[in-house]
Amino acid sequence: MWGCPVAHVASTLVATVFTVNPRIERLQRAGAANPDVVSLAGGLPSEKQFPRRRLAAAFTRALGERQASALQYGWPEGRDRLRAWIAERMCRRGAQVSADDVIVTSGAQQALALAARLQLRRGERLGLDAESYPAAIDLFRTRGAVPVVGGERVAARYVMPEVANPHGRGLDARERRALLEAGVPLVEDDAYAELRFDGPPGRPLCADARAQVWYVGSFSKVLAPGLRVGWLVPPPKQLKRALRQKRDLDLQANSLAQAVLEDFLWREDFDAWTERLRRFYRRRAERLAAALAKHLPAWRFERPRGGFSLWVETGEDLDDTQFLATAIRHGVSFDPGRLFRPAGGTRPLALRLCFSAEPGARLDAGVARLARAWDAFRREADRLSAHASGRARVGSRRVSSGVRALRAGRRAGSAAVDALVAPVGRKAAHPRRRARVQARPRGVR
Ligand SMILES: Cc1ncc(COP(=O)(O)O)c(C=O)c1O
Repeated sequence: MWGCPVAHVASTLVATVFTVNPRIERLQRAGAANPDVVSLAGGLPSEKQFPRRRLAAAFTRALGERQASALQYGWPEGRDRLRAWIAERMCRRGAQVSADDVIVTSGAQQALALAARLQLRRGERLGLDAESYPAAIDLFRTRGAVPVVGGERVAARYVMPEVANPHGRGLDARERRALLEAGVPLVEDDAYAELRFDGPPGRPLCADARAQVWYVGSFSKVLAPGLRVGWLVPPPKQLKRALRQKRDLDLQANSLAQAVLEDFLWREDFDAWTERLRRFYRRRAERLAAALAKHLPAWRFERPRGGFSLWVETGEDLDDTQFLATAIRHGVSFDPGRLFRPAGGTRPLALRLCFSAEPGARLDAGVARLARAWDAFRREADRLSAHASGRARVGSRRVSSGVRALRAGRRAGSAAVDALVAPVGRKAAHPRRRARVQARPRGVR
């Protein structure tokens, strides 16, 4: 039975590394396991947009290559043709980058991890937007940095200048100038850059300040996250150290995925490909925005400039995780706002809503359900708060735990949460559907 302890260690590790908030994760998993729940959560690309046939053909060709380099070890920096393609693309946007400056990584996430390892010291303040990408916030925190909102007295800043997660916002010229003039090192995360609805991405920050910027790119949003291919262009003086770190971590990025990508990119008109994606996601964004305006007119949101999601503020001081439990009971899921706030704040109650993964009709249905869930949730909050003030009037010192959970954003018991989620209209899924749903990735992107 010596396999057991290993399995246990592995599952503990997974829990420690990937559980941003165990209670939210439990709710998200419950939602994802039920095909009847419309998912406005997760930040996943549409599976309709995966070029399956063309990737399969590229895969076959890569495997058939005479030297079988797709199955062989490679160099830590990645495959040359892929690096050259990436560099050429960045040059077209005005950055002075050659293939030698590019390190192919296991997704943008690893590029962020490399930048964090080499740039941040324990205890240093790292400036972020008021809402930012949760896995980056966690990563920086794990490295010992102190995430703070804004740019005051920070050792570095993490920015998404073209399209930010979760808002889909971009920086204007004044904000870009201010960042560059501040002179602090920048981690420039351009994972969504190609998905600006108004056209191809502009000049990256690294084009104006190579020595100041750790540039991070990804194929996850425009091709398929399962490939796990991204890249890092470190400041020139940091290139050697970054390569050493990359080798220490995993020797190299996946050869096969890189070979498939090389083949795909050499045959594909990538500009036409990204243009189609932009139109596709813009239509979905408009559909979600229209449904919100119709069903939840009191909620505030900004129309995104691009990406997969929009950010909604309800203006209410209620608990986002309790609302998620109610929403899942009504057949819709979302990402609670606290995950995106560097200090984990819950006020006002905010949500990230993703339009990327669900088709238009399900987006409409999801928002209609969200509106019903919101009504039910607020009625419950009002009822509990009236109940609590009634108790207060008769001099009781006991405070309803429901009110505490709803109003103060504290944790309710996990059993209560599970009870809220489990019974909701769950039908026995068709085995094929079930397999698809179970295959859905976890966590918040
Ligand atoms: C802003 C941002 N950066 C980086 C990543 C990680 O991307 P990858 O799949 O390339 O690791 C994500 C994933 O959602 C993201 O939203």
